[in-house]
Amino acid sequence: MSHQTVIVLDFGGQYNQLIARRVRECGVYCEVKPYTTPLAQLKAMEPIGLIFTGGPNSVYDEKAPHVDPAIFELGVPVLGICYGCQLMAHTLGGQVTAAQEDTAREYGKTETYYDTTCKLFKGLPEQGISWMSHGDYMAKVPEGFALTAHTDACPNVAIADEARGFYGVQYHPEVNHTQHGVDMIRNFLYEVCGAAGDWTMGDYKNTAIAAIREKVGDGKVLLALSGGVDSSVAAALLAEAVGKQLTCVFVDHGLMRLNEGDEVEAAFARWDINFVRVDAEARFLLKLAGESEPEHKRKIIGEEFIRVFEEEAKKIGRVDYLVQGTIYPDVIESGAGDAAVIKSHHNVGGLPDYVDFKEIIEPLRLLFKDEVRQLGRELGLPEYLVSRQPFPGPGLAIRIIGDITKEKADTLREADAIYREEIAAAGEDKNINQYFAVLTNTRSVGVMGDGRTYDYTLALRAVTTSDFMTADWARIPYDVLDRISTRIVNEVKGINRIVYDITSKPPATIEWE
Ligand code: XMP
Repeated sequence: MSHQTVIVLDFGGQYNQLIARRVRECGVYCEVKPYTTPLAQLKAMEPIGLIFTGGPNSVYDEKAPHVDPAIFELGVPVLGICYGCQLMAHTLGGQVTAAQEDTAREYGKTETYYDTTCKLFKGLPEQGISWMSHGDYMAKVPEGFALTAHTDACPNVAIADEARGFYGVQYHPEVNHTQHGVDMIRNFLYEVCGAAGDWTMGDYKNTAIAAIREKVGDGKVLLALSGGVDSSVAAALLAEAVGKQLTCVFVDHGLMRLNEGDEVEAAFARWDINFVRVDAEARFLLKLAGESEPEHKRKIIGEEFIRVFEEEAKKIGRVDYLVQGTIYPDVIESGAGDAAVIKSHHNVGGLPDYVDFKEIIEPLRLLFKDEVRQLGRELGLPEYLVSRQPFPGPGLAIRIIGDITKEKADTLREADAIYREEIAAAGEDKNINQYFAVLTNTRSVGVMGDGRTYDYTLALRAVTTSDFMTADWARIPYDVLDRISTRIVNEVKGINRIVYDITSKPPATIEWE
């Protein structure tokens, strides 16, 4: 099975995987290669197009990455982005210099004017916002190139040599801030490179399965399944690839949402794999008894999880591969380094090195979240699992303020299920990225029937966010809130008051603990 291939040549920019993802989004297979890849190797891949990424350097820096100029003799179209554009200009005889302050140096959203007779901008508006981030300026463009876009400060934010299929843009078409950026990439692929659009997530699935089979051979594979989207999709992929050689260990810590454990188990019933569900509710509750400090709760759950997993792994004996559901944003975040730890996120994927295994497999490492969901659908996972909102590893333990008991967990489970049911029934789940109930440790006086009550206050949380780093509280219609409140107080014993959390992140976090 071979596809038309586009190579993204990586010069160290921050958005390189995003470029790759955009190309995939346009239905074209794509690989990211370091700029040091020998030309012969690139040529052997028979690419239909090359995209040079941005990068932190200036082309005139001594240590700046360069390309073999012969790359421009391959007869393959090139799109240079930011540094990639300057590098192309520099290599082909143009001149790049540091921009003077206030002239052509540009950062952020910039009004840009496009020449729509250029293939890159064909069919798109003549004016729009582009996302700039460059300190250098092309003082002279190479021979054969025309200027095809400008801003008020800079006459040449896009250049093109249409005869040779060379295009350069100083801004980042791959980021959402650039209006019609993806359309520009699509134009490069289809109008310039002649792409056929022969790549789909189904192809990705088949390629990934083949690669896993080749790697694993007849080895044994172990996976810790949390029931979250990432580990579930990784599990389904491995199940499809190696069947019985896979053991999934699903530790049910008793702090899942209503019916969640059964749902996860049911989703994997279609594969002939070794599925181990460990009912560990009692031992988790015992360990957590009396503990109310959020970080301690996380730590206890993290450690206990590892202990249970370890016990199960020992029963299986030596395994060859351990699978982790790491996805691309995790790779970026863990590289972020010294950001302050606000909460020590416990992810069941992050296991230490106590299990005896040869290698880790991370089959989703290059995918973004929505691609992971799409892959899950391809693999036949049910929609409720694939489109599931994030659920923290420690589960309801960090949504019960104060100490945790089984009774409180059951109360919260019931209330949370009603909340989710009503949000979905109102169609609000399409607009909200995460929503859940929190059982506070505040009790207050109420009146039900003719009697006085002294019960718990339940808080409802709902946020809209694109990255979960910042979030806004969701404007749920009052009548929906009213229905939720009435139902919960009437149907769930032990709750007599409902409050709605109207703080954004920051200053609050999404979870309460
Ligand atoms: P916060 O509360 O930090 O949450 O604004 C941001 C996102 O992370 C999730 N979250 C966790 N996920 N283990 C996890 O796997 C954790 O300990 C944890 N704490 C928060 C949270 O649900 C939200 O999506």
